[in-house]
Amino acid sequence: MEKVLVTRRISENALELIRNEGYGLSIYTENKDLTPAELIKMCEGHVGLLSVGPNKIDEHFLSSCKHLKGIALMSVGYDKVDVNAATKHGMPISNTPDVLSEATADTAFLLMLSVARKAFYMHKTIERGEWGFFDPMKNLGQELYGKTLGVLGLGRIGLELAKKAKAAYGMKVIYHNRSKNKNAEELLNATYVSFDDLLKRSDVLSVHVNLTEETKGMFNLTAFEKMKPNAIFINTARGAIHNEKDLMTVLQNKTIWGAGLDVTNPEPMDRNNPLLNMENVCILPHIGSATEETREKMAIMAAQNIIKALKGEQMPQVINP
Ligand code: DGY
Repeated sequence: MEKVLVTRRISENALELIRNEGYGLSIYTENKDLTPAELIKMCEGHVGLLSVGPNKIDEHFLSSCKHLKGIALMSVGYDKVDVNAATKHGMPISNTPDVLSEATADTAFLLMLSVARKAFYMHKTIERGEWGFFDPMKNLGQELYGKTLGVLGLGRIGLELAKKAKAAYGMKVIYHNRSKNKNAEELLNATYVSFDDLLKRSDVLSVHVNLTEETKGMFNLTAFEKMKPNAIFINTARGAIHNEKDLMTVLQNKTIWGAGLDVTNPEPMDRNNPLLNMENVCILPHIGSATEETREKMAIMAAQNIIKALKGEQMPQVINP
């Protein structure tokens, strides 16, 4: 029986789809990520890989696993994949776009409001026994009503966040993309601006681009220093898009007001990282798409893709057609 390797426990419905097509399954369930060598070893005897988690699909992996007929990622991001190498090896790879846009936008929205009201830090003050008396000049956050939301990468997730921000707080939406998003301009009256203007004009700046050579380290000291003193920086995309040391510096110097991160570099973040104790910082452990509903949809989509690849058909969400 041909077998698929699934690198984490995922929805039973998704596994059932694969079984129902007559394929066997191996499921990796250890409480640690696989090393590249372990992943290659585990792929032996399998024809498909349903990759969940930070598995590197690079030249070394691809040349060691030529027996695979396809790889379905259970993520929208594919920065761990060397797409050119996969194409060269004729290895179809798919991702899980769209189904996680709302959940991820919710996470960005949650961080935006949490930073604005210092929510995570306030929680810690109670734990530390610092909730003493009412001081009207203490614990003050800022309001989002009528402020400007800047979106870097107004694609599916960025658009969902912009819709929520406009509906909830009447926020003005400005954005920077490789190309203009006419649909967003009509729907939200969003304005296309240069990256420099995005930095200078945003009260909240939320990042929704892929991690590429071009976006890696895009938010460094030079970029942060152009932002407003009341600005909130949100990153739910990939941690390597911001330079963490520079972010720490601008938060300490009060060059910008606060930051909300669902992604860090490296992940997991060290529990002693000073960012975790800063008043205007809220950090989550990469839970952008972590809802029961969304993870179910992602697992089903990944399962449908790997089944197609095993049948020699085009994966519906192939990234290297
Ligand atoms: C995604 O789908 O890319 C999420 O960030 C999980 O990796």
